[in-house]
Amino acid sequence: MKGYLCSASYLLLLSTLLAFGTVADKLQPGESLNVTQKITSSGDTFALGFFSSGNSTNRYVGIWYNKMKERTVIWVANRENPLTNSAGFLILSEDGNIKLFDGKKSVIWTSNVSVIGRNSTTAVLSDSGNFVLRRTTDHAVVWQSFDHPIGSFLPGMKLTLNIKTRQSIRIFSWKDVDDPTPGIFYAGIDPQTPRQMMVWRGSEPYWRDGVWETVVSAQVLQMQRNHVGYITTIANDEEISFLFTSSENSNIARYVLTPTGAIELESWDDSSEKWELLSSTKNNNCSVYGWCGPFGSCDNISLPTVCNCLKGFRPKYQQEWETGNWSGGCVREMNLDCGTKDEFRMLKRTKLPDISISLGTISAEACASECLSNCSCTAYSYTNVSGWGTWNCLIWVGDLIDLVENFNTEFNLNIRVAGPQLGTDPTYFDEEEEEEEERTLQADQPSDHEWSCVDDIY
Ligand SMILES: *[C@@H]1O[C@H](CO)[C@@H](O)[C@H](O)[C@H]1NC(C)=O
Ligand SMILES: *[C@@H]1O[C@H](CO)[C@@H](O)[C@H](O)[C@H]1NC(C)=O
Ligand SMILES: *[C@@H]1O[C@H](CO)[C@@H](O)[C@H](O)[C@H]1NC(C)=O
Ligand SMILES: *[C@@H]1O[C@H](CO)[C@@H](O)[C@H](O)[C@H]1NC(C)=O
Ligand SMILES: *[C@@H]1O[C@H](CO)[C@@H](O)[C@H](O)[C@H]1NC(C)=O
Ligand SMILES: *[C@@H]1O[C@H](CO)[C@@H](O)[C@H](O)[C@H]1NC(C)=O
Ligand SMILES: *[C@@H]1O[C@H](CO)[C@@H](O)[C@H](O)[C@H]1NC(C)=O
Ligand SMILES: *[C@@H]1O[C@H](CO)[C@@H](O)[C@H](O)[C@H]1NC(C)=O
Ligand SMILES: *[C@@H]1O[C@H](CO)[C@@H](O)[C@H](O)[C@H]1NC(C)=O
Repeated sequence: MKGYLCSASYLLLLSTLLAFGTVADKLQPGESLNVTQKITSSGDTFALGFFSSGNSTNRYVGIWYNKMKERTVIWVANRENPLTNSAGFLILSEDGNIKLFDGKKSVIWTSNVSVIGRNSTTAVLSDSGNFVLRRTTDHAVVWQSFDHPIGSFLPGMKLTLNIKTRQSIRIFSWKDVDDPTPGIFYAGIDPQTPRQMMVWRGSEPYWRDGVWETVVSAQVLQMQRNHVGYITTIANDEEISFLFTSSENSNIARYVLTPTGAIELESWDDSSEKWELLSSTKNNNCSVYGWCGPFGSCDNISLPTVCNCLKGFRPKYQQEWETGNWSGGCVREMNLDCGTKDEFRMLKRTKLPDISISLGTISAEACASECLSNCSCTAYSYTNVSGWGTWNCLIWVGDLIDLVENFNTEFNLNIRVAGPQLGTDPTYFDEEEEEEEERTLQADQPSDHEWSCVDDIY
């Protein structure tokens, strides 16, 4: 390395780079940047170089919006290994990888891909903020920063989960707003119930989106001055993906996974030169995964946030529950009959609980009876989606967790409880009483299902 740095061609390349100043948007093999240099994308939208953040003297290689006065960093390379002084450089090495060396000439970060052939790549900072390593011969992308989202999620990026290999693209949070050290949150597509987005805190779920209903879905996000963003989700047998695009190849919007675990959509306001918050996943305590514990339901419109036990359930720890510690959740007041005496109580407009099992597209009646015929089934949800639907019927086995009521969705949850009970509060489900009775009658009628599990259990 040392010898190579001193070679004449290196100096020639370096001077070429300097001659172009900040016009250069790429690194060719052997070209490097020192801590005071940067490259800028062709449209001048993004810059890549070294930065320090907050009061720290640690230096990182990152990408930021080039024209904004207040630097907003959207990607960081060496967040686990900062440079502690000004001796260091980023180079497109002869083996094809981008490498960051410290003053002692040790590699502290690398794109780390195996590339065939020496001097076979070019690293370009695109105007969408993507730092792309391409094979020179066929322009194939061998590595790109968009596959490693750090803190920000920009138009053009996608989060993915490969069903077979379990490989995924996730977004990782910063430790603090001015500290790019890895934080405790990350977000991506849930491998357990693969058609939902999740934010994890360490290895624990922290926030959860609802289950996607359709194979393909598109959502338009209205942003400033007639700019729109689009969210597209695609689910097939191989890969689930979540794409963010915008009406023009612009820098005006981004999602941020904040150091406190919220996903925020921000739009840049040119006149105030500030990021404007358009939405956040943190509305109230109901946004916190499992806030009300098993079989507890979080009321999205109560203030302060309160938890209710589902109909037919009572607090597991009464005293703690009364003091507002809801995490213990609720337990059944009466054990299930596990046969024809069980019935379903419908809770309208809910955020459906976590860990659902899709039974595909079957009729509402089949959905109910599939649930009844399995002793461990605690709830089902039926929705009438036509066309590109991936499911009509979801069932749950075991605890119902992360359930929110008075939630702005069309989903109803049918919760399995033991047959008619005394002393229950008739107002809680009053809208549904008549419908419930009908369903109960239906469930009592003989069907072509065998209730074999009754014998297995008792
Ligand atoms: C970076 O390179 C430029 C051009 O060679 C030089 O003027 C500058 O002093 C260098 N900075 C450091 C910290 O080495
Ligand atoms: C950074 O330094 C300034 C001035 O010394 C101080 O007011 C500020 O609190 C410091 N910020 C942090 C995050 O330590
Ligand atoms: C490069 O990748 C290999 C295999 O994926 C891994 O074992 C190695 O630790 C990585 N090296 C660096 C410097 O990240
Ligand atoms: C790779 O490029 C550098 C700089 O242009 C040159 O010095 C070196 O000889 C090249 N190596 C090979 C194997 O072509
Ligand atoms: C959310 O929970 C925290 C911690 O228990 C509590 O202090 C706060 O008042 C709650 N907020 C609302 C709006 O209920
Ligand atoms: C809340 O209750 C759980 C048991 O359900 C207990 O383990 C936990 O310590 C309690 N938390 C607080 C803050 O009291
Ligand atoms: C109930 O359904 C679950 C999930 O589909 C399944 O794992 C379990 O074996 C079923 N139990 C019975 C008794 O059919
Ligand atoms: C489902 O929707 C279709 C048309 O949207 C309608 O014809 C059908 O009756 C609905 N089925 C149920 C069970 O609601
Ligand atoms: C939940 O309530 C918050 C206000 O507390 C509101 O902003 C949000 O839109 C509600 N979410 C749904 C899906 O109804």
